[in-house]
Amino acid sequence: MTGQKIDGVVVAISVKDIVRAAVKELQNDRITPCLATVLVGDDPASATYVRNKQKACSDVGITTKDHKLPAMFSQKEMNSLIDLLNKDDTVHGILVQLPLPVQLDEFTTTSRISPLKDVDGLTPYNMGLLISSKAILKPCTPSGIMELFEYYKIDLEGKDVVIINRSNLVGKPLYNLMLEKNATVTTCHSRTRNLKEHCQRADIIITAIGDRKKFILTEDMVKEGAVIIDVGTARLEEKLVGDVDYDNVIKKASYVTPVPGGVGPMTIAMLLKNTVTAASISKEFVQHN
Ligand code: GUN
Repeated sequence: MTGQKIDGVVVAISVKDIVRAAVKELQNDRITPCLATVLVGDDPASATYVRNKQKACSDVGITTKDHKLPAMFSQKEMNSLIDLLNKDDTVHGILVQLPLPVQLDEFTTTSRISPLKDVDGLTPYNMGLLISSKAILKPCTPSGIMELFEYYKIDLEGKDVVIINRSNLVGKPLYNLMLEKNATVTTCHSRTRNLKEHCQRADIIITAIGDRKKFILTEDMVKEGAVIIDVGTARLEEKLVGDVDYDNVIKKASYVTPVPGGVGPMTIAMLLKNTVTAASISKEFVQHN
């Protein structure tokens, strides 16, 4: 059996078309959705991610306000910037690119963002809603993966799912979103024993390690017909690579996402979707207050 490639570029285009139409509707109400991006320091990978997000915004008619800050930016300065952006009625979404330099606390920073502008879905309020299956703004990578399942009509009901990641950005929200679809979900991490056995019995594996020296998902770890979602990204000899040995795993799996061109484009597409959602929420908020 040779599996099918899950094409994140194609699915992202279909999400972007919906977003573009929503932007036009908001513009008819004199609202131009706007995303504020915050990048601290000069990590080249983070700078590329932010640039790609800004370009994608511009492609669908979302404006951006770019905040590039020195590596030594303090927590106090960060708090003041977020307070300003929270108050700015022309800004609908706030994205603080992670990871942050050591002097900035991730929780202190993300939890200061107004839940109404929290396009990453990382504030305690939005995380709480997610656990209660009531979230409107959900973390972009997990919701992008859920879109891929829907587009390819991959049913999750009763499926054994293994997620190799326990972060707030990926593993924890994904656990909840998949549980909502009635999957049986196992979260694996650095202290998990028998990772290979967990993988071998899984109907669906989602891996997000991003370090091929630590972990590569190989063919022998995968059940015949399994669905494999690769969230890992790392540089190998100037090339972007994922966690999965794609060429061999696809011979055994039913579906596999490539890197690049799988989950990555979906993360960006969902950020755009969240930004128009946040702009629509702001409209409701103005009308009702
Ligand atoms: N760093 C890696 N992925 C993400 C993401 O989805 N959002 C933010 N803010 N930072 C990231």
